[in-house]
Amino acid sequence: RPRTAILISGRGSNMVSLLKAAEDPAYPASFVLAASNRPEAPGLVHAASAGLATLALDHRAFPDRAAFDAALDAGLRAHGIDLVVLAGFMRVLTPGFVEAWAGRMVNIHPSLLPLFRGTHTHAQALAAGVRLHGCTVHFVVPELDAGPIIAQAAVPVRPDDDEDSLAARVLAQEHRLYPAAVALVASGGARLDGDRVVFAAEAVGGDGAL
Ligand code: GAR
Repeated sequence: RPRTAILISGRGSNMVSLLKAAEDPAYPASFVLAASNRPEAPGLVHAASAGLATLALDHRAFPDRAAFDAALDAGLRAHGIDLVVLAGFMRVLTPGFVEAWAGRMVNIHPSLLPLFRGTHTHAQALAAGVRLHGCTVHFVVPELDAGPIIAQAAVPVRPDDDEDSLAARVLAQEHRLYPAAVALVASGGARLDGDRVVFAAEAVGGDGAL
């Protein structure tokens, strides 16, 4: 089972859903480290109580992105990390760092990519008037929110939705989708091949949905 790090910046509810899934001894990833660029991230406390090592690297203490990423990379290597899972990690990573972890780093983004990259995705969806919205798990590439897609989940947009109601509906799907998608990657059921995801035939259902 790949030794897996979860990177967070705040609340950490996706991290909690991953740790919950990993309580099943058959879960194919072993979560051993939680790292945050914000030492005050509430999720770090939960991770420590769940028995994970924690790494708090305050990005404000580093002169630039490259220095922060070098420290993060060193921390991941010191813990023998094989797989990196970004879960509400709100910091752009340098191309050098991303290339070093190519095919071994995944992210969850709160929209149906390639729609609504960046931040405030629920406001973006409401402004665009889409009737379906959702979340995407993808391999991380240097371009922000542009990596090859591993899994998606869709939710309806209701006429009376505001940003908060829509975010909550999407988040419930994130908590279901991310543990399944990380399991798929950790077990080799989905892997990055160049700029495509290759799925093992037995890993996904007939319709390719998780
Ligand atoms: C989640 O909705 C996640 O998809 C999003 O931040 C939230 C974190 O919540 N991530 C991004 O926007 C990444 N650019 P959590 O800390 O409770 O998991």
